[in-house]
Amino acid sequence: MNSLISIRSDFPSIQQKVNGNSVIYLDGPAGTQVPKQVLEAMNYYYTHHNSNTHGHFMASQETDQILEEVRQKVATFLNAPGSECISFGQNMTTLNYSLSKGLGRIFTPGDEIVITQLDHEANRGPWLALEELGIATREIKLLANGTLDYDSADLVINKKTKLVCVGLASNIFGTINDIARIKQKAEEVGAYLLIDAVHAAPHCSIDVQELDCDFLLCSAYKFYGPHVGLLYCRPGLLDNVPTDRLRTQESVAPYKIETGTLNHAAIAGVGAAIEFIASRGEGENLRSQLVAALEEIHQHEIKLAKALWRGLDSIPGVHLLGPPIDSPERAPTLAFTIEGLTPAEICQYLGKAGIYAWDGHFYAIRAVEVLDIMKIGGVTRMGVVVYNTMEEIDRTIREVRTLAEQTYRLRQKGSTVKS
Ligand SMILES: Cc1ncc(COP(=O)(O)O)c(C=O)c1O
Repeated sequence: MNSLISIRSDFPSIQQKVNGNSVIYLDGPAGTQVPKQVLEAMNYYYTHHNSNTHGHFMASQETDQILEEVRQKVATFLNAPGSECISFGQNMTTLNYSLSKGLGRIFTPGDEIVITQLDHEANRGPWLALEELGIATREIKLLANGTLDYDSADLVINKKTKLVCVGLASNIFGTINDIARIKQKAEEVGAYLLIDAVHAAPHCSIDVQELDCDFLLCSAYKFYGPHVGLLYCRPGLLDNVPTDRLRTQESVAPYKIETGTLNHAAIAGVGAAIEFIASRGEGENLRSQLVAALEEIHQHEIKLAKALWRGLDSIPGVHLLGPPIDSPERAPTLAFTIEGLTPAEICQYLGKAGIYAWDGHFYAIRAVEVLDIMKIGGVTRMGVVVYNTMEEIDRTIREVRTLAEQTYRLRQKGSTVKS
C-alpha cells in the first residue's frame, strides 16, 4: 500500500506560504488541490493530442480514444455497467439543468418532484425551475441536527412523485444520507432516484449499482481533478430523455446531453485524477484499487476530522453543527460558529494565518434558511481531504482557540474583535 504520508509532495500548490506560514487547505469541499499527475496529463494532452474529435488524422483519433478511455475510467470509479452511462459536462450544475430541461418535457403538469432542504442548490434549483411547467416540487425536511427527516420523506414521496433528488453527503454538515431508505420509498411509487454525489465523491467509493439510482452526478474538481461535471444515467434511460441537442450531435447516450466541444484536456485530467486515487490502493484492477484507496483515504480523513471536531469542541464559545463526528457514517466536513464573531470574520482571521476555510452557506442555502443561521452569516466550514495532516489540524485548533479567547476577552470589555 502506498503511504498517504508521501502524497503531499504530489501537490505543488500546498507547498505555498502566506505571511510566512505554510498554507493549510481546509477548503476541500469547495474544490480540492490538483496533483502533478493531473497537471501533467492536461499538459501532455495539449502538447501531444490537441485536436477536435472524429477526424481522419492521428491527434483527432487520439482525442477520441482519450475521451472513451476516461469515460470508462469514470464508469469504473462509479461502478457503472459501462462507459455509455457516463456523460461529460461543464460542471454538475449545468448537467443537472440540462437533465431537468429534458425530463421536464416528459413529466406532465400535476407530476411532482421531491427535493430536500439539505441539498446544495444545484440539486434544487434545476427542479424548482420546472414549477413553471406545472410540475410541483415537495421538500424532505431538515432536522436541527443536520440530518434529513425521513418521516417527512414518507409523507412527500407519493404516487404523483416522478423523481426524488437527494444528496449522498451534505456539503455543509457532512451528513451522509440514508439513500437506501429513500430508494425504497421512491421504488414503491415508481419514481426515479437522482443522487448528487459531488460532496461524497472524494471521501468514499461510489457504487451506482448498489445505490440502485437512475441518475448520479459528481464533479471532478472535488476529487483532485479539473473542472468537469460527470453524469451517470442508468443504461437505456438517457436515450429516452429529449435533451437540448443540435441535430449534428449523436442522439443516443451518453452523447445526447453533451453540447459543443468538450474540454478535452480537462477530461484527460479527470482520467489522471482517478488513476491518482487508485494508485493509493492495492488491487487486481482499477475498481478494486479505487475501493481500497478510498477506504484508506476515509480512515485518514475521519481520524483528522475527529481530532478537529474534538479540538474545536473544547474551545469555549465554539458551537459545532451537524451530526456528531462519531456518527457511524460521516463525511469529514465540519461546520461551526464562534460566539461574537461572524463566519466571515473567522475566515478573514484564519486566512491571514494561512488557513483556508469558507464562510456562509456554500449554496446549501435552504439548509441555512431552515435552521435560521443566515442572520449570523451562516457557518464556518472546514473540510479534511487526503493531503491534510495532524500538524495542520493542531495548528488550526490553536488559531481558532486564540481567536475565540481574544474575542471572549474583548466581549468582556464590551469591545469587538479586529481580525
Ligand atoms: C454537494 C454539491 N452539489 C453540487 C455542487 C455543484 O457542483 P458544480 O460546481 O460542479 O456545479 C456542489 C459544489 O460545491 C456541491 O458541493
